[in-house]
This record gives sequence, C-alpha cells and structure tokens, in this order.
Amino acid sequence: MQIETDQLLGRERPTAFALPRVPTGVPGLDGILHGGLVGGRTTLVAGGTGCGKSVLGLQFLYSGARDGRPGVLVSFEERPAAIRENSRTFGWDLEGEEAAGRLAIIEARPNPDTVLSGRFNSHGLLSDVTRAVTAVGAERIVLDGADALLRLFEDVVDERNELFSLNEWLTDKGLTTLITAKITDEHFRGARFAFLDFMADSVISLRQCADESGAGRQLRVAKCRGSSHCSRLHAFAITDAGLLVGGTPAGDARRSDPSRS
Ligand SMILES: Nc1ncnc2c1ncn2[C@@H]1O[C@H](COP(=O)(O)OP(=O)(O)OP(=O)(O)O)[C@@H](O)[C@H]1O
Ligand SMILES: [Mg+2]
Repeated sequence: MQIETDQLLGRERPTAFALPRVPTGVPGLDGILHGGLVGGRTTLVAGGTGCGKSVLGLQFLYSGARDGRPGVLVSFEERPAAIRENSRTFGWDLEGEEAAGRLAIIEARPNPDTVLSGRFNSHGLLSDVTRAVTAVGAERIVLDGADALLRLFEDVVDERNELFSLNEWLTDKGLTTLITAKITDEHFRGARFAFLDFMADSVISLRQCADESGAGRQLRVAKCRGSSHCSRLHAFAITDAGLLVGGTPAGDARRSDPSRS
C-alpha cells in the first residue's frame, strides 16, 4: 500500500538502513549472519566445553589482524603461552601479529586472591583493556571464557554489573565484541547466565553431538538484534585451518531445539 502511494505520488522510498558488518574470518559463517558480525555490537558465542568457542574467537581476531583490523584477546581461562602454542596447530602465527602491533593478548584469569575475597572488580581489567585497545588501535575484541568469572561467586549481582559496565564501555568505544561463555541451552534458562543472552545483541550457539568423529558439530545463530539471519542449524568442522561452516543444514532449528525460539 505504501509502495503504491509512493509510486502514485512519484516519491522515492528511502533505502533501508543496514547495520555495518564485520567479517568473522570463518568460511561459511558470514553468509549465515547475512554479512558478518554486526559492527560495534556484542555477540555471545555460547556452548559446552570443547565445542570450538575459543577457536572461533581467535580465528576472528587472527583473520582480522592479518587483514589490517587490529584486535585484543582477553582470556579468562587460558594462559597466553598456551593460546599461542595451540594456535600454531592451525598455522596461525599470533606472535607475528603481536609483534606487528595488530594483536594484543591480556591474561585475565581470576587470581586466588580475587576468589578468596569473593569480589571481582573490573577496574584493573578495564585499565589493562584500555591500554591494549589504545596500543594496537583495536577495532575488535574477544572476551574468552567470561563464564569463568561468573562461576566463582555466590552472589552474582555485582559481577553482572561489572560485566555490564565493561560491555557498555566496549560498545561506547565502537568495538565489535565477541564474548564466549561455557553455557548450554539449559543454562540459559537459569537466571545466572540468562543476562548474558540479554546483554548480547547477537547469540551464536555451538554444540557438539556425541559423534566422536567430529562430524557432530553444529552451529546456530540464535538471535541477531536489528537484522535478519538464518536460524537453522548448520554443521561445522574444526580443521587444521580452524573452523569451517558448511554442508547441508543439519536440521530445522525450531523443530530440533524448541527451547530457543
Ligand atoms: N589443530 C586442530 N585441528 C583440529 N581440531 C582441533 C585443533 N585444535 C583443537 N581442535 C579441536 O578444537 C576443540 C577445542 O576447541 P575450543 O578450545 O575452541 O573449545 P571451547 O569451546 O573454547 O572449550 P572450553 O569451553 O573448554 O574452553 C578441541 O576439542 C579439538 O577437538
Ligand atoms: Mg575455550
């Protein structure tokens, strides 16, 4: 009706506004995301242990760095030395990108004192992040294993607030943010992690089926605020070159996973 009116009056319809997209560096994933991650926004990558969250995060950062798009990795679980070593198995030279000033790695594993005091305070982390973001001129950032923080505390309200403020800060800086967390669909139903889902503009859910051949990995874009996306389940593999999404969609998301609509 609107189109007819516009045509009758000879009006030009404004072109629909499309949010800017940032390539993930994962073959086959950008198409599912209708162009890539939404630039300047936060995407949550959720899934159980070993399902490929950290690899996805690193691939995003490494491919970006190689493309002249600097980034920062904040690791809440793994030591930087181990991250660099594991990356070599994919042929990724993280040290080279660090030396070139296109990548910075921050170790943010909660230390025993933090655990004992029962209180995480993001001020120290924030100043480390600020320094690293400024040093490399970061456009993208990955907070890997954010659940490690949240699992430590009895009362999560303060910690939630800290993570919220960190996320707000990153968004204000215009950084395209990827947060990974070891959470499954069942966890999302619990209050403890539901806020992560709420905080993120987009959610990519990874899962690993019982198939030990590795063929049983599946990915789904569970939500993408402000844009369209393909919500079907997609098979993916972790190869010696990293994540690769492809093949025939593994099934209809709504039919296979009614818990998340
Ligand atoms: N070089 C490689 N080639 C093929 N697959 C690999 C390689 N390195 C790691 N993998 C696969 O990637 C998986 C680990 O993925 P990743 O570390 O991203 O999991 P994760 O989701 O971050 O797990 P966690 O929640 O425990 O941190 C391993 O279980 C292994 O199957
Ligand atoms: Mg991990």
